[in-house]
Amino acid sequence: MRVGVLTGGGDCPGLNAVIRAVVRKGVGEYGFEFVGYRDGWRGPLDGVTCELGIAQVRGILPRGGTILGTSRTNPFAIDGGVDRITATLARNGVDALVAMGGEDTLGVATRLADEGVNVVGVPKTIDNDLSGTDFTFGFDTAVNIAMEAIDRLHTTAESHHRVLVVEVMGRHAGWIALHSGLAGGANIILIPEKPFDIDEVCALVEHRFKLQYAPIIVVAEGARPANGAASTAGSAGGELDQFGHERLGGIGDRLAYEIEQRTGKEARAVVLGHIQRGGTPTAFDRWLATRFGLHAITAVHDGDFGVMVALRGTEIVRVPLSEGTATLKVVDESQYAEAEILFG
Ligand code: F6P
Repeated sequence: MRVGVLTGGGDCPGLNAVIRAVVRKGVGEYGFEFVGYRDGWRGPLDGVTCELGIAQVRGILPRGGTILGTSRTNPFAIDGGVDRITATLARNGVDALVAMGGEDTLGVATRLADEGVNVVGVPKTIDNDLSGTDFTFGFDTAVNIAMEAIDRLHTTAESHHRVLVVEVMGRHAGWIALHSGLAGGANIILIPEKPFDIDEVCALVEHRFKLQYAPIIVVAEGARPANGAASTAGSAGGELDQFGHERLGGIGDRLAYEIEQRTGKEARAVVLGHIQRGGTPTAFDRWLATRFGLHAITAVHDGDFGVMVALRGTEIVRVPLSEGTATLKVVDESQYAEAEILFG
């Protein structure tokens, strides 16, 4: 059997660990051959391939990013996109595809599976917002990077009696903000799921200063004030990608400015941005990504298509792709309320 492999959407630590596990087990156990598709769905769309075998996956387990490259190409936004993909697969003699991605890439995989393409999905996103799986790989790495930043910001904030606002990723879901904020002892955590009241934020800031400490606020890029919109990033503000997403960013600065104006306390913003997505994966993400890869290629071997692998407890299971992509997994009220006890 010939298997195509692609990685789409934002890159994420652990992608190379999945590719390695898929190829190692596919070649070693099942005698499969592989075709690498470059840059997400652009690869099969434009017929851009690369060699993918044991030699290409040597040494990539700890390496961040993806050796296959990635993009946010949406074949359903391009005239004749699906036909171009099926034609490429036929031309390359590819019987099945392993597609790694988040809501967008796996959303495309779901629709292609409906059109008869043999696809197995692997859920990937640092945002951890895919349904059907307890965790996606990449998330743990991002949370640890954000936590370390928060730890460091505490000492400098206290030395200068300043408010420090840390902007983390999380377009629709505040999982990175919530987990890193709890782990780093942030005094306020703001997430997209719960629009915030700026007066309440300022009251918490003032309370923190009264205790002789300096406040650290963790804010997800998609968070917004109760009476306002999410902040879009600088020159690209308002521009949409092929999946209709705006590029977010700027809420940290906006918040720091408002706090300084209202409380008179100096406030600065730190944007962690792509630092959260780059570099080597944590042990947890390598473990999860490797297991996802091993199980994904077994699903291909079993001819079980239209599914994605998922973590439930400590088990890797298969769930219909549609289940993973139908709705986003967002932070629920009760988990946020737990964290709120520690605010201020
Ligand atoms: O989807 C993952 C993610 O990291 C989001 O948190 C963020 O909004 C987006 O990707 C940023 O994407 P890009 O790298 O294309 O700017």
